[in-house]
Amino acid sequence: MSDTVPLAGVIGWPIGHSLSPKVHGHWLARYGLAGAYVPLGVREADFEGALAALPNLGFVGANVTMPHKERAFVLADERSAMATRLGAANTLVFDPDKGVVADNTDGFGFIENLREAQPGWHAGAGPVTVLGAGGAARAVIVALLEAGVPELRLLNRTASRAEALRDEIAPEVTVLDWAGAEDALAGAALVVNATSMGMAGGPEMTLDLHEIGPGTIATDIVYARGETPFLSAAKARGARVVDGFGMLLHQARPGFERWFGRAPEVDDALRRAVLG
Ligand SMILES: NC(=O)c1ccc[n+]([C@@H]2O[C@H](COP(=O)([O-])OP(=O)(O)OC[C@H]3O[C@@H](n4cnc5c(N)ncnc54)[C@H](OP(=O)(O)O)[C@@H]3O)[C@@H](O)[C@H]2O)c1
Repeated sequence: MSDTVPLAGVIGWPIGHSLSPKVHGHWLARYGLAGAYVPLGVREADFEGALAALPNLGFVGANVTMPHKERAFVLADERSAMATRLGAANTLVFDPDKGVVADNTDGFGFIENLREAQPGWHAGAGPVTVLGAGGAARAVIVALLEAGVPELRLLNRTASRAEALRDEIAPEVTVLDWAGAEDALAGAALVVNATSMGMAGGPEMTLDLHEIGPGTIATDIVYARGETPFLSAAKARGARVVDGFGMLLHQARPGFERWFGRAPEVDDALRRAVLG
């Protein structure tokens, strides 16, 4: 290794579950690039100190995950338009001249995954229904609106959170009642589960999904080794389904390219390397 081998990593707490080191490790090996990508378990109280130290340790950037996404945004020296709209960052570049440059690539990953899996989908295809109003839902909703979706229905168990999301970043969305999910699902061209229902160790999927039909594309941002309950239910009703694993893979692309200088590909070999 020379003195200038680029280092990157994912900062979070807890971090042991993160698949990002496998994603970037696969790409580094596949393209024969010098560099390393490591998990960085950093507690909330230590985040600012870690962020200040990393560039001096040879890091060219980092991904940021729970619970640091908002703090990373605040501490950055420069922010992309997407990070600014969301008030949260997941990808940082340590630039010798500009300092910490923050971006948010979750929405990019969501749209790229959808387009890869369902090339026939386009923003004008019909109404979109998004379930959930947490951090990931914010990125998904902004990406869908920027893609040109004309009608976006949003419902969340806690209505006030959906209303706050609308008021803060997406005045175009229509907030509907969680208890009336059938109405929100009826006639939707695309339905997105952006709640944590169905994630391993998380809450069960309890929503009545019978209004999803053969004309619908259903996509889950929750990823699991097998099919998630949301996707199984949608498939049983004839919908075309898109899993959330691809979103995780695609959101990693911009960071890798900026840190290591090569645009990476999402393909079956990557999926096998990360899941295997
Ligand atoms: N594929 C990817 O690349 C990717 C990227 C980011 C996140 N994710 C996944 O997306 C999921 C959400 O992440 P997040 O960061 O947005 O989490 P978050 O900010 O904690 O939001 C959780 C969401 O799930 C809802 N929820 C939780 N328990 C529920 C229940 N029992 N019934 C109904 N709704 C419930 C919450 O509703 P309330 O507001 O009512 O609590 C909220 O809308 C996680 O599984 C995460 O792993 C995937």
